[in-house]
Amino acid sequence: MNSNRLRSLPHLLLAILLTLAGAQQATAQDASASTATVSKAGVTPGATAGATPATAVAPAAGGADAAAIQAGDALFKANCTQCHAINEQVVGPALGGISKRRPITWIIPWIKNSSKLIASGDEYAIAINNKFQKQQMPSFGLSDKEIISIVAYITSQEGQPAAAVAGGVTVQNAGSTDGKASDASADGAGAGKYVDILLIALVVVLIVMVVTLIIIGNLMKDVLRGRKDLDGRDNEILEQRFDWGKFYRSPVLRGIVGVVFALVLLYEGVQSVMAVGLTQGYQPTQPIAFSHKLHAGTNQINCVYCHTSVYKGKSANIPSANICMNCHSQIKTESPEIKKIYRAIERKQPVQWVRIHNLPDLAYFNHSQHTQVAGLQCQTCHGPIQNMEVVYQYSALTMGWCINCHRESPLNTKGNAYYDNLVKLHDTKNAGAPFTVSSNGGTECSKCHY
Ligand code: HEC
Ligand code: HEC
Ligand code: HEC
Ligand code: HEC
Ligand code: HEC
Ligand code: HEC
Repeated sequence: MNSNRLRSLPHLLLAILLTLAGAQQATAQDASASTATVSKAGVTPGATAGATPATAVAPAAGGADAAAIQAGDALFKANCTQCHAINEQVVGPALGGISKRRPITWIIPWIKNSSKLIASGDEYAIAINNKFQKQQMPSFGLSDKEIISIVAYITSQEGQPAAAVAGGVTVQNAGSTDGKASDASADGAGAGKYVDILLIALVVVLIVMVVTLIIIGNLMKDVLRGRKDLDGRDNEILEQRFDWGKFYRSPVLRGIVGVVFALVLLYEGVQSVMAVGLTQGYQPTQPIAFSHKLHAGTNQINCVYCHTSVYKGKSANIPSANICMNCHSQIKTESPEIKKIYRAIERKQPVQWVRIHNLPDLAYFNHSQHTQVAGLQCQTCHGPIQNMEVVYQYSALTMGWCINCHRESPLNTKGNAYYDNLVKLHDTKNAGAPFTVSSNGGTECSKCHY
C-alpha cells in the first residue's frame, strides 16, 4: 500500500477546504460592503428632502424607484424616442450617461426649454446645439418630477448603478453625492453581480466536490488493496477502470447528443422560417450615388423638399429628376453621377431607383396619419437617415412592429378638435389610463387590412 500518498492526502484536503473558506469570506465581505451602500441609500434621500426644490422629489426617486423608472419609461417613449435612444445617436445625442455628463439642475431647464438655456449663454448648451447643427429640441411641459423619472429611467437602461442620477439631483448639497443610489436599479445591477458571484462559487464548490470524491475513492481503494480477505470478484471490482469506449457507444449518450442536436436544428429552423419575408437591413445599391448624409445631413435639406407628399398623403414619394435639377442645373454639373440625372432627363425616362421599404399590398399604411396627425419624426421609423450614405431599411416593418407601437403610443390629441369628444369619453370610462392608439381601435384588423 502506498503510505506516502495516504499521508499527503489530509494536507491536500485541508488546503482545498482553506481555499474554499477564503473564497466564501471574500464573497461575504463583498455582500456586506454593498448592503452598507444600499441601506445608506434608503436613508439619505429622505434626509436631504426639502433642502432644495429639486430634492422635494427625491423621496420618490429613492423610495418608490421602480414606479419612477416605470413612469420615466412611459414618458421617454411618448416624448423622446423620436429623436433619442439611450445608447446610440438618432436625431439627438445618445442619452446614456447623461446623469454623469450633466447635473439634473441643468437637465431640467434644458428639457423644459432648451432654446431659453441656449439664449441664456450656457456654454454647454451652445456647444451641444452647434454640434447638432443647431437643430432645436422642442420644449416640454413636463414637471421636475417627471423629468427626474425620465433620467432615472435612462440611467436604469444604461445598466449602471443609478447613484449618478440621485447624485445629480442634489448637486446643491455639494459633497454628499455618493451613496444616494436610487434603489431599484442599484439593486438590479447589484443582484446581477451577486448572481454571477454565486454561480462562480457554485461551480468552484462543484469542482472541489468532484475532486474530493475522486480522491476519497482512490483512498478507499488503496485501503482495500491492503486487505487480504478479498475474494476474486471483489478484486475484479476493485481493479475496474472506466471504459471510455463503452461510454462512447452507450445508447444513453447517443440519445442525449441526438436530442440536443435535434433541438438546435429545430431552433435554427424556426428562426430562419420566422425571418422569411423580413427585409430589415436591406440596402440595395442605387443607380446614382445619392447620399442622404450629404443632402439631408450636411446640407440640411428638409425631407419634405424631396419627399413632397409625406405630410399630405399615403405615400412619401421619391423625387423626380426635376427636383434634383433645381440645384444640380448649377451644382457639380461636371460630376459623372450628376450627368446620370441629365441623361435621364434627355431620354425622358425616370431614374430607376431601387425601392427599399415595401409593405405587402394586404396592409394599408398612410404617411400623413403618422407624420402630420401623430407628429412622429421620420427617424422613429426610418432611423438616422440623415447619417446614411446609402439608405437601408431600419425597422422590421412586421405587423408586430406596427401593433407594438400602436399599443404604446399615446394619441396626439392636443389641438385636434376631432379628438375632443373621444378624449372626454375615454376619460370618463377609463380615468387615468393613457389614451393610446390601440384604445382608439388602432389594433383592429380592419384599420390596416381591408
Ligand atoms: C425633435 C427631436 C427631439 C426630441 C423629441 C427630444 N430631443 Fe433631446 N435633443 C435633440 C437634439 C437635436 C439635441 C442636441 C442639442 C441641440 O441640437 O439643441 C438634444 C439634446 C438633448 C439633451 C442633451 C444631451 C447631451 O448629451 O448633453 C438631453 C438631456 C435631451 N436632449 C433630453 C431629451 C428628453 C428627455 C426628451 C424627451 C422628453 C427629448 N430630449 C426629446 C432633439 C430632440
Ligand atoms: C435631395 C432630395 C432628398 C432629400 C432632402 C431626402 N431624400 Fe429621401 N430619398 C431621396 C431619393 C432620391 C431616394 C431614392 C434613392 C435612395 O434610396 O437613396 C430617397 C429614398 C428615401 C427612403 C427610402 C425609400 C424606399 O425606397 O423605401 C427613405 C426612407 C427616405 N428617403 C427618407 C428620407 C428622410 C427621412 C429624409 C429627411 C431626413 C430624406 N429622405 C431627405 C431624396 C431625398
Ligand atoms: C436643394 C439643393 C439640392 C437638391 C434638390 C439636390 N441636391 Fe444633390 N447636391 C447638393 C449639394 C449642395 C451637393 C454637394 C456639392 C458639393 O459637394 O460641392 C450635392 C451633391 C450631390 C451628389 C454628389 C456629386 C459628387 O460627385 O460629389 C450627387 C450624386 C447628388 N447631389 C445627387 C442628387 C440627386 C439624384 C438629387 C435629386 C434626387 C439631388 N442631388 C438633389 C444639393 C442638392
Ligand atoms: C410610423 C412609421 C413611419 C414614419 C413616421 C415615416 N415613415 Fe416612411 N415609411 C414607413 C413605412 C411602413 C413605409 C413602407 C410603405 C409601403 O410600402 O407602403 C415607408 C416608406 C417610405 C418611403 C418610400 C416611399 C413610400 O411611400 O412607400 C419614403 C421615401 C419614406 N417612407 C419617407 C419618409 C419620410 C420623409 C418621413 C418623415 C417625414 C417618414 N417616411 C416617416 C413608415 C414610416
Ligand atoms: C412609431 C409608432 C408607430 C408605428 C411603428 C406605426 N404606427 Fe400607425 N399610428 C401611430 C400613431 C401614434 C397613430 C395615431 C395617429 C392619430 O393621432 O390619429 C397611428 C395611426 C395609424 C392608423 C390609423 C388608425 C385610426 O384609428 O384611424 C393606421 C391605419 C396605422 N397607424 C397603420 C399602421 C401600420 C400599417 C403600421 C406598420 C406598417 C404602423 N401604423 C406603424 C403610430 C405608429
Ligand atoms: C397596425 C396595423 C395592423 C393591424 C391592426 C393588423 N395588421 Fe395584420 N399585418 C399588418 C402588416 C403591416 C402586415 C405585413 C407584415 C409583413 O409583411 O411582414 C400584416 C400581415 C398580416 C398577415 C400575414 C399575411 C401574409 O401574407 O403573411 C395576416 C394573416 C394578418 N396580418 C392578419 C391580421 C389580423 C387577423 C388582424 C386583427 C387581429 C391584423 N392582421 C391586424 C398590419 C396590421
